[in-house]
Amino acid sequence: MKKPKIFIACDTTNLNKIKRIIRETQNSKLPFGYKFGLEFLNSKSGRKFVANLKNKITFGDYKLADIPNTCASAIKAIKDLKLNYITIHISSGLKALKAAKKVSGLTKIIGVTILTSLDNKSLKEIGFDKDVKKLVLHQTKLAVKAKLDAIVCSPQEVKIVKKIFKKEIITPGIRLLGDLIGDQKRIMTPKEAFQNGATSLVIGRSLTKGNIKKNIQKLIRELK
Ligand code: C5P
Repeated sequence: MKKPKIFIACDTTNLNKIKRIIRETQNSKLPFGYKFGLEFLNSKSGRKFVANLKNKITFGDYKLADIPNTCASAIKAIKDLKLNYITIHISSGLKALKAAKKVSGLTKIIGVTILTSLDNKSLKEIGFDKDVKKLVLHQTKLAVKAKLDAIVCSPQEVKIVKKIFKKEIITPGIRLLGDLIGDQKRIMTPKEAFQNGATSLVIGRSLTKGNIKKNIQKLIRELK
């Protein structure tokens, strides 16, 4: 299977909507992977659906943030899903990252840096002294130490991350031209994100709101 260029964020609890997203991203010129997050995976039918999904690149966006033993145990508990990717917050600490990596088998472990919904003001609120770029760089060094397989960061930090992280760099915080920004803060267009060096993008609402096929056509035009 081709490496996904786009991970489409399947953020809904509606099984029919998920099936529609999968159907309408088939045969597209772009290779798609499917990102399932807290909303769908915690829904009644979500886990079972993902466990039975065949021949798709799957991304379990669990965003684990816990002590090493709990992170490792959680990864073991979802082994049956045979996910291609799982996320863990780098802020869980080096030991938790290493513990996750140790039990992950064929599943790639993605380290999540600072959420794309946060800016410098929000970081201050939480109590962080460093600005976003410094913090993301700092966290990337931890991901290198833990030998993680991929990094999630905003497209605005890709150039910095790329200098020290040589594997996959996946960027959410993507909006097609003219789309609503919503709760995101550090955003870019798909074209800009790839130009900066992202290896793949996570796109949710810009593709899943409204007519999915038309949105994909718009994405393809923007990427030209
Ligand atoms: O709809 P939108 O494109 O903003 O969705 C972005 C997706 O990426 C969501 O599923 C969100 O949980 C996820 N994500 C993010 N920022 C991160 C990590 C993941 O927006 N840093």
